Amino acid sequence: MNDELYKSIKEKALKLKEAEYAAMKDMKDKLKAVQEEYKRLDKISEKNQKKNVKKYGEYARDYKKFSFSNMAPYFDDHIHKSIRGYDHLRDDVEKISQYFITPNSSVYDLGCSEGTMIRRIMAANIDIDNVNYFGVEGNPTFLKHFTDADLRGKKKKIIKNDTSTIMINLPCDVRNWKAPERMKRKEKYSSFMVSMFTLQFIPEADRERMLDDIFNYDLIKGGGFVLCEKVFSPDAKFQNMMDFMYMGYKRQFFSEEELLDKEQVLRKLAKLDTEETIINNLKKVGFKDIQVFWRNFNFIGLIAIKKD
Ligand SMILES: C[S@@+](CC[C@H](N)C(=O)[O-])C[C@H]1O[C@@H](n2cnc3c(N)ncnc32)[C@H](O)[C@@H]1O
Repeated sequence: MNDELYKSIKEKALKLKEAEYAAMKDMKDKLKAVQEEYKRLDKISEKNQKKNVKKYGEYARDYKKFSFSNMAPYFDDHIHKSIRGYDHLRDDVEKISQYFITPNSSVYDLGCSEGTMIRRIMAANIDIDNVNYFGVEGNPTFLKHFTDADLRGKKKKIIKNDTSTIMINLPCDVRNWKAPERMKRKEKYSSFMVSMFTLQFIPEADRERMLDDIFNYDLIKGGGFVLCEKVFSPDAKFQNMMDFMYMGYKRQFFSEEELLDKEQVLRKLAKLDTEETIINNLKKVGFKDIQVFWRNFNFIGLIAIKKD
């Protein structure tokens, strides 16, 4: 091989090596850039994830242990975050009420908190004449959601030109409450009654008497009673599944501390039954037609009709 040829081959080989080296370096730079981009995106997603976990304390401003009094200023918001599908439940109760409310009758919401449900029921049945709507609530902290005219039996016309009224009895223990009509007329007059997640807070000893009063002293024939309760599963495996799926759902709104604190408070206050026991208790006082119309995790809504 002559010198010239050897030189040109060596130069070509060198150029190829340089090109290869440059390509490798380019690839390394690109890889580094990609890795840095990944790191940057990871940081953003971590930040966003943190941002998206809404802690209850964030909108409550300061963290408060669960109690009805502490939650009263924003109870509707709290219960919507605590019970999945609560919107649908309220929509359903509103629609169900239209099958039952009759003129010249009364409607009660036992444990009405902010009064949203009884107001919605009234608005949905405003074409029915002369209905008295009652909200009954035991905790005085809910007072701030009502005007003076709503309170203590004073009548308030919510919508002009109608003949119906809404009255909020507060503070009043649902166990002692008797509608003025019951005492005056000594006859049954209620066409529709609602108890949404209230009965579970009533001592077990008083529940049967309350249900008995609802069936025997309040509801007219054909009247409807909506009872919503949190229940125990019929089996330990289901209970475990429901509990942890429910916790998983609630973690998007509440911190771990809030969830555990609430559990400790509720274990003293809420005394749950199984769905079967609730249905048997309704049957015991006389209800025959009973149907579950709504269910989410271990929260259920039942409609019971008084046939005779
Ligand atoms: C879980 S909350 C449900 C509130 C409302 N029914 C709703 O679905 O938004 C239970 C309500 O029942 C009320 N409550 C509990 N025990 C009561 C009693 N003995 N007398 C009157 N109200 C009571 C509580 O203050 C609270 O407002």
